[in-house]
Amino acid sequence: MAFQLPKLPYALNALAPVISEETMQYHYGKHHQTYVNNLNQLVAGKPFEHMMLDEVVMMSAGFDQAVFNNAAQAWNHTFFWMCLSPRGGGQPGGRLYNDIVAKWGSFEAFRDDFVAKAAGNFGSGWTWLVFNPETEGLEIVNTSNAETPLASDNIPLLVVDVWEHAYYIDYRNARVDFVRGVMDRLVDWDFVSRNYYRAC
Ligand SMILES: [Fe+2]
Repeated sequence: MAFQLPKLPYALNALAPVISEETMQYHYGKHHQTYVNNLNQLVAGKPFEHMMLDEVVMMSAGFDQAVFNNAAQAWNHTFFWMCLSPRGGGQPGGRLYNDIVAKWGSFEAFRDDFVAKAAGNFGSGWTWLVFNPETEGLEIVNTSNAETPLASDNIPLLVVDVWEHAYYIDYRNARVDFVRGVMDRLVDWDFVSRNYYRAC
């Protein structure tokens, strides 16, 4: 079966005003859809065609750049939408909160570090909170273009898309305002915490 654009668990206007309905129409409806369409064209007749999307990302990394770019972008976007909720924002609870405070000193210091790293991610890319199994610790990681922790040892917990298409309609060049808005008002910390419990 062909890869499909995932259904969102919220309406396209549900993330406003942090992310407008118009941005969602383009970002989800056109950019994400295009990665899925391109991927389906690229994998036709190849073994990738019969794999799960995360398998395609891992198997194509360093092997088939065009397939990887579109598969990773399809996966990264799906993960990004899952990290957001109209009822999101605030802070995580439990173990994730405790471990963030243990590393950064406070949740606010973590939030500011994440926003600063996202603002400093040169060009198009993604800013992630990951669990590093080697150090058994939390880390903020920037990736460029379609790069994804899924193709590394790190386990992705949270991501914010910092490609210009994610924010230019609503914020023009003010990426930092977009990332701060997402962190303060949209992050689904229940989803991020579940990822953390599974990771460690
Ligand atoms: Fe995007």
